Amino acid sequence: MNILLTGGLGYIGSHTAVELLDAGFDVVVVDNLSNSDIKVKDKIEKITNKKIKFYEYDLRDLEKLKLVFNENKIDAVIHFAGLKAVGESVEKPLEYYENNLFSTINLIKVMKEYGVKNLVFSSSATVYGRAKSMPIYEDFPTSATNPYGRTKLFIEEILKDFELANPEFNIALLRYFNPVGAHKSGLLGEDPKGIPNNLMPYIARVSVGKLKELSIFGNDYNTKDGTGVRDYIHVVDLAQGHLAALRKLEQNPGLVIYNLGTGVGYSVLDMVNAYNKCCGGKVKYKFAPRRPGDIDVCYASPEKAYKELGWKATHSLEDMCESTYNFQKNNQ
Ligand code: NAD
Ligand code: WQD
Repeated sequence: MNILLTGGLGYIGSHTAVELLDAGFDVVVVDNLSNSDIKVKDKIEKITNKKIKFYEYDLRDLEKLKLVFNENKIDAVIHFAGLKAVGESVEKPLEYYENNLFSTINLIKVMKEYGVKNLVFSSSATVYGRAKSMPIYEDFPTSATNPYGRTKLFIEEILKDFELANPEFNIALLRYFNPVGAHKSGLLGEDPKGIPNNLMPYIARVSVGKLKELSIFGNDYNTKDGTGVRDYIHVVDLAQGHLAALRKLEQNPGLVIYNLGTGVGYSVLDMVNAYNKCCGGKVKYKFAPRRPGDIDVCYASPEKAYKELGWKATHSLEDMCESTYNFQKNNQ
């Protein structure tokens, strides 16, 4: 089976490429390298000892995208490509709408034209907005609080309409919670350009002295220690969730929605303490005001994915921290 990964050299895409290759799939990647590095291709090939086919194309270029489908018999697509920084999306909303929506519309147009009918889409827990209770189930109402989140919400709606009009399509909307961690080889991980916005990459840079200290945004939330609680999931578990979703699509289920999380919430202080155990206490922190737009608690019910996909996360918090630290030390 030949799987097309859009955005396949990015953080989650690269880990999924490794899992797919290890499981015997062939992988074709389209990525414009706007937030990734061509060196990731060699690293994926080194880890798996297999080749991938790579196109440095932008998904907004419809003709280029058709070339990919012309040259390869694609069996299914996993659509990771997109811009993902919440703060930047507030400053540049049109770039986010243009990149994320146009890319997706082009992709499904070409899939239809070439008769490729199975699609996995990278959605996000952000589509739950401020959920009324925890854990979050897939049938909770959706909303968005920023342009990035709205692109995910709009794409979900577009894909639902598209599947209704084209019932031969099978689409899995995977709502990721907070992906963290890195490949055990130390070759692949999250390496954001500039100062990280997300907690784990920030902690990682403090642990190697690239940043001075972590600011913990808020210690007066209604949580056990006052700091924000999230459902952190190891990126390799997340990657394996995509293989489970692909198998599900083989059963012609139409459009399906799954949370990919662990069901366990950790606070910011839990994360710092666990990380400090791995790195020998190098992460210093101070408390700072709440970050605008943040919620106090967010964690998934992963039950539906377990029941229907037979998938659940297996990596521990220690795995998440150790692999992150290992990757950070290797990639200075
Ligand atoms: P990433 O930025 O590392 O990977 C995205 C990849 O897409 C990058 O390699 C980038 O170069 C590429 N890309 C962007 N626009 C493109 C375009 N127009 N044409 C071709 N390539 C393009 O991000 P990631 O963390 O791997 O996330 C993958 C997907 O998962 C994204 O859609 C993201 O919104 C979603 N997601 C991520 C998280 C997270 O916290 N990392 C959480 C929930 C959902
Ligand atoms: C986690 C916790 C912060 C940085 C974001 C997006 C979401 C999804 C995942 C894509 C919070 C605290 C953080 C720091 C801190 N992405 N924090 N100091 O906000 O849960 O989710 O990424 O879909 O859409 O919104 O993740 O890692 O930014 O924050 O104290 O320097 O860490 O306040 O409690 P978040 P995060």
